[in-house]
Amino acid sequence: MEVIIRPDAEAAADLTARLVQKALQDKPRLVLGLATGRTMESVYRRLVEMHCSEKLDFSGVATFNLDEYVGLASENSDSYRHYMERNLFQHVNLRPSNVHLPDGIAVDLDAECVRYEQAIRDSGGIDLQLLGIGSDGHIGFNEPLSALQSRTRVKALTPATIEQNAWHFSVPEKMPRRALTMGVGTILECRRCILLATGEAKAEIIAAAVEGPITSMISASALQLHPHCTIIVDQPAGGCLRGADYYRWIFDNEPEWEPYRGARQG
Ligand code: F6R
Repeated sequence: MEVIIRPDAEAAADLTARLVQKALQDKPRLVLGLATGRTMESVYRRLVEMHCSEKLDFSGVATFNLDEYVGLASENSDSYRHYMERNLFQHVNLRPSNVHLPDGIAVDLDAECVRYEQAIRDSGGIDLQLLGIGSDGHIGFNEPLSALQSRTRVKALTPATIEQNAWHFSVPEKMPRRALTMGVGTILECRRCILLATGEAKAEIIAAAVEGPITSMISASALQLHPHCTIIVDQPAGGCLRGADYYRWIFDNEPEWEPYRGARQG
């Protein structure tokens, strides 16, 4: 695991987008795992900018989103499919047939989860998975006590997650209480993952996930087991990290990060 601390949220999102850009340039048929949520919006904004101004090409890319709410059709403006359309899909040259999200209105939700896992396998597996983190440490919607080997399934959301997300909904009381989500085990199978967290409200959970024990109480702590996981935070979200000086030293000195040191800040 590596931790990168950037001065502000824009610089953190910019670095994340630049790592996606590099992965896509290295492998035009990239299988890209996507997350939703407020934190990711600026990453998608940057990717759209790169598509428009630097001709970043998504035509060969396949995407798999982490999750979708149970009961929301893709046309529903509160669905994650709709979020993805608004923030990324309709602005870049992704082929609609290459875009995948779990179907929140599938008649048989368990069968839908099996189908989704199979679709990921059929694509050759996820090359790069983007992740956010919830205030309870969830990745995807893997709420506390999610098995570290869990697969795509239906998960009941915690009151903390409902409180965190309900304000996005046109009618907050109607936020679904369940979601289809890739499991922790599904996520751990990706070849590389990047978790982005910004803002002081994420500082304690980031320190617990990165520097604390691996526990199913904090799903993101399972990323410590991943062979190629990058955690990118802004200064406030990195505020409780005990190893901050070391992480900064790595970013400032390791040749791997040289091309990114001049990343734009805000
Ligand atoms: C959503 C997802 C969630 C979010 C997390 C952070 O697809 O996977 O794990 O990434 O809840 O959300 P924000 O960025 O809104 O704080």
